[in-house]
Amino acid sequence: MAGAAGARELLCRVCITVQTGVQREDRPGTPRAGEKPAYVHRAFVAIANRYDLLNTLLSFNLDRGWRRATVAAVGLSGSEAILDVATGTGMLAREMQRRLGAGGKVLGIDFCEPMLRRAKGLADNIHPVLATAERLPFADSSLDGATVAFGLRNVPDMEMALREATRVVRPGGRVVCLEFSRPRNAILQRLHRFYLLRVLPTVGWLISGDREAYVYLPRSIMAFPSAEELRSVMEKAGLEKTAYRFLTWGVVAIHSGTKPGPGGAPA
Ligand SMILES: C[S@@+](CC[C@H](N)C(=O)[O-])C[C@H]1O[C@@H](n2cnc3c(N)ncnc32)[C@H](O)[C@@H]1O
Repeated sequence: MAGAAGARELLCRVCITVQTGVQREDRPGTPRAGEKPAYVHRAFVAIANRYDLLNTLLSFNLDRGWRRATVAAVGLSGSEAILDVATGTGMLAREMQRRLGAGGKVLGIDFCEPMLRRAKGLADNIHPVLATAERLPFADSSLDGATVAFGLRNVPDMEMALREATRVVRPGGRVVCLEFSRPRNAILQRLHRFYLLRVLPTVGWLISGDREAYVYLPRSIMAFPSAEELRSVMEKAGLEKTAYRFLTWGVVAIHSGTKPGPGGAPA
């Protein structure tokens, strides 16, 4: 019986290899089912030192404007405590801290220590916390808002991560997500695809020294839900008044939603 099952599996693998040239789950840049957290963790450990530089280079420095627009969407008044989920090296957290000034507080969580270490080294007033997005170590309704930039693509259960962010935000607080999207214009789509599949992996590999991480990046962007789909996941996660807007011809989108209940959205 076991022999028959083994033979079936072997045959199946041979068929996949013949059809695609490689075994699907072994394609570079594609984590095996159930192994996404470990795969993503490894990728960010490998590129932590070069992450900020590559962000700036590969986005032609547009990422700064995207982050500023994300912070603006949170609607800060100056005294809030905001959680930045998957904060990485703290690029968004730093932008938020600048906007808040001394009266506010930014907590940044991430599950990758080398990334967090850089967040700590670069700004003293950001509070880095080693934790996973799907299980936040904060009490219900204890924070004024939450952000996640380029993080949702990387978590295995995006709805759970959004549900957690919603749980820790007070009623009336906002959850704002910045994430890659895809242009809708056909010509831009082609250019975008070319850039993602040809330019980005090569430049990423040359500068970071890690090929896998920059093969994973375009694959994860192309596999990510559409902006409308993400909006509906935010609603399923318990947010209301959800909305999104595209930046840079649809290369990225900013989504926001409000936690229901009394309190109203921040000014
Ligand atoms: C592309 S980086 C984004 C960093 C930062 N938000 C920015 O805007 O530059 C994605 C980050 O998500 C973190 N991450 C991925 N999956 C995670 C998870 N399940 N829980 C917490 N952090 C996670 C990675 O360690 C990495 O630092």
